[in-house]
Amino acid sequence: MRRNARVGALREKSGLSKRMKGYTLTSFKPYVSPAAARAVEKVQGYLKEWDENRSAGRGLYFVGDVGTGKTHLAVAVMNELIARKRVPALFVTVPELLDNMRGTYNNPGRNIDEWMDSVKNADLLLLDDLGAERANDWVRERIFVIVNHRYREELPTIFTSNTGPKDLAAQLGERTASRIISMCDWISLEGEDYREAEVRRGL
Ligand SMILES: Nc1ncnc2c1ncn2[C@@H]1O[C@H](COP(=O)(O)OP(=O)(O)OP(=O)(O)O)[C@@H](O)[C@H]1O
Ligand SMILES: [Mg+2]
Repeated sequence: MRRNARVGALREKSGLSKRMKGYTLTSFKPYVSPAAARAVEKVQGYLKEWDENRSAGRGLYFVGDVGTGKTHLAVAVMNELIARKRVPALFVTVPELLDNMRGTYNNPGRNIDEWMDSVKNADLLLLDDLGAERANDWVRERIFVIVNHRYREELPTIFTSNTGPKDLAAQLGERTASRIISMCDWISLEGEDYREAEVRRGL
């Protein structure tokens, strides 16, 4: 069917790995912690208001400790919007993005410009693991360029990070932090590391 073919094509271009295609709202258990239940509610609210969020360039910022479901829920939002609203969405991990950018200096043949252009202009961008990288001036500047572009163009961005709002400015600089704070609704996840808990349950 044409509609399914379109969704398939969007998924192909989304940058989502095989594992992440299974990160959906249905596969996310809201009862693991009160924070997870609240997060699911917020996500559902965000999806319900998608048209307004899209036109205002409003995104989400998932913050919390390792293994609390940030990437899962963020990708679930993306999967929902691809499937239900045919949104051309792009998933990128920040450390990988920075690695690729660094690569251009040794590797001028690679078409990083085209890729950067799609990162800057994706209808919906998921930047996973923001702040995982130790930030130096170069890193800060690269992230600022992307965030500032999306801020100016009012394009929604979803972030996942271990860094909370207080530490964001120290890590990325005030200009970037202030834009992210004004663009995003914050969703905080806490509780135990689901990966570890899963291993324990298996024992
Ligand atoms: N509430 C949940 N229900 C079902 N699966 C979950 C839940 N929370 C986490 N998981 C699963 O646990 C694993 C870790 O979750 P995820 O990758 O989303 O964590 P994270 O918060 O992004 O961690 P990190 O900070 O290390 O990136 C994934 O396989 C995810 O599917
Ligand atoms: Mg993650």
